Amino acid sequence: MKRKLMSAILCVAMVATMLVGCGSKTETAATTDAAATEEAAPAEEAATEEAAPATAGMKVGVAMPTQSSERWINDGANMKSQLEALGYEVDLQYAEDDVQAQVSQIENMIASGANCLVIAAIDSSTLINVEAQAKEANIPIIAYDRLLMDTDAVSYYATFDNKGVGTAIGTYIKDVKDLDAAKAAGESYTIEFFMGSPDDNNAVFFYQGIMDVLQPYLDDGTLVAKSGRTSFEDTCILRWSQDTAQANLENYLTANYADEKLDIVCSAFDGFSYGCKAALEGAGYTVGEEWPLITGQDAELMATKNIISGHQTMSIYKDTRVLAEKCVKMVQAVLEGSEPEINDTEQYNNNVIVVPSYLCTPVAVDKSNYKEIIVDGGYYTEEQLAE
Ligand code: BGC
Repeated sequence: MKRKLMSAILCVAMVATMLVGCGSKTETAATTDAAATEEAAPAEEAATEEAAPATAGMKVGVAMPTQSSERWINDGANMKSQLEALGYEVDLQYAEDDVQAQVSQIENMIASGANCLVIAAIDSSTLINVEAQAKEANIPIIAYDRLLMDTDAVSYYATFDNKGVGTAIGTYIKDVKDLDAAKAAGESYTIEFFMGSPDDNNAVFFYQGIMDVLQPYLDDGTLVAKSGRTSFEDTCILRWSQDTAQANLENYLTANYADEKLDIVCSAFDGFSYGCKAALEGAGYTVGEEWPLITGQDAELMATKNIISGHQTMSIYKDTRVLAEKCVKMVQAVLEGSEPEINDTEQYNNNVIVVPSYLCTPVAVDKSNYKEIIVDGGYYTEEQLAE
């Protein structure tokens, strides 16, 4: 009886051990899995934590000049979406070409704890103090598209090859009008210039690029500006005003082109080209033989439509998605200590320092290549252009 009891107890114990064994095995496996998961979780967290300081909670203030021209709307939207995709908080502000408003917006960005500032200036001479405040607060600044002059508070500059923009416009006029053939034949073309804002460093570069190509033809009389205005001082237009461009051309047409047609409108901005189109229509020009060659810059949607309809001849396509991408890399560089892409360390001296820059490539577009560059490049769809 005792033996029977003993073996029964043993049996129960064995089964129990087996069960416990099983149980414990399962438990162990589960525990191991859980531990693995737990281990994985902290590891993942750690990985996220490692990436997190670069983005989470960091604020980037993006100060843009105006929404009156489409290109800046695209620039702001691209910057915002690309920075947000990396986890940055973005404070995007437009100052509608009001210099004091831009100063206040940047002051607010500093006060509200921005970790980095991206500035496309209206008039950078008005930003010197606020840039110094940012530097004092250890907030790095990236100059966007337009160089920030007279300051040592700027770390990097993302832009397009601004002189290249001017050269492309000048070369387009030279080639399409075949100025060398005209010169050889002793012929001439009339031309008027509509250059950028004197408070925008880019405008000077555009002008230099244009004149590098066209000045010799002005000098030898192949190109004639009947208004007599060819210098930057005489042809620049404050704050890139479309209305001023229109008024200037209206005046030239009345005063200088009563007996002779205007052949070329050398415009440094699509907005000017719209104003010039209105002035020409007002003076009775029609698209066709007598409509002048009209240049532009930015390949805005309306400009591209005007190219298709023949109201504008060309524009300079600037892919603002690429510019934003290069600028975002600069933001990451100053905040995470990574290396941004730089391809120019010489051209952009802001009177205090030479600012390391990335220059994106501008491309001349006209009727012959807009499909390939703009539509195939995914900038505008055929539908948008047909609307
Ligand atoms: C930009 C041009 C633009 C112009 C007017 C310049 O600083 O580089 O792309 O057409 O401003 O907005």
